[in-house]
Amino acid sequence: MMEKTVVLIKPDGLQRGLVGEIMHRFERKGLKLVGIKMIRLTDQILDDWYSHHKDKAFFKDLKSFMEWTPVVAMLWQGLDAISAVRKVVGITKAREAEAGSIRGDFGMSGSQNIIHASDSMESAEKELGLIFNGDEIFDYNSSMDLLIYSKDEVVS
Ligand code: CMP
Repeated sequence: MMEKTVVLIKPDGLQRGLVGEIMHRFERKGLKLVGIKMIRLTDQILDDWYSHHKDKAFFKDLKSFMEWTPVVAMLWQGLDAISAVRKVVGITKAREAEAGSIRGDFGMSGSQNIIHASDSMESAEKELGLIFNGDEIFDYNSSMDLLIYSKDEVVS
C-alpha cells in the first residue's frame, strides 16, 4: 500500500551534522520526499506525540531532549513506507541496532538515538497532523517512480 511516514531528525542528529547523510539514505532507498520542515517541538506537541509514554520514568527527560534544538521533520512516501523506513532506521537501542541501519551505523544510545520514524498507520497519521499543514504536503510525479517500482506496483 502506498503510505506516508513521518521521520524526525532528533536534536542529536541535527547537532552531529547527520541531516544530509540521513536524507541521502532515504533518497537512495527510493522513497519520495513529500514534506520537509524544521520545527521546534513544544511541550504541547510532545505531550500528544508521546502520550503512550506519559507514565514512563524517562518521559520528562525525553521531552527536554526533544526540545533541546529544533528538529528536521520529513514526510517520506512509498509502498509500505512505514515498515521500509523503520528497517532503514533500525531498532530503538542504537548500540544493538543492525549495522547498515542509521542507528546501527551512527548511534550508541537508547534515548539519544538520532531519528524517529512512525511505527504504524495510526501513529503516522497522528504525527503528520501534529507537524504538517495540508499545504506543506506535496503530491507530484517523479520519473524515478518508473525506475523504482514495476508497473503493477506503481498503480497499487
Ligand atoms: P523513539 O522510538 O523514536 O520514540 C520513543 C523515544 O523514547 C525513543 O525513540 C527514545 O528516544 C526514547 N526512549 C525509549 N525508551 C527509553 C528509555 N528506556 N530511556 C530513555 N529514553 C527512551
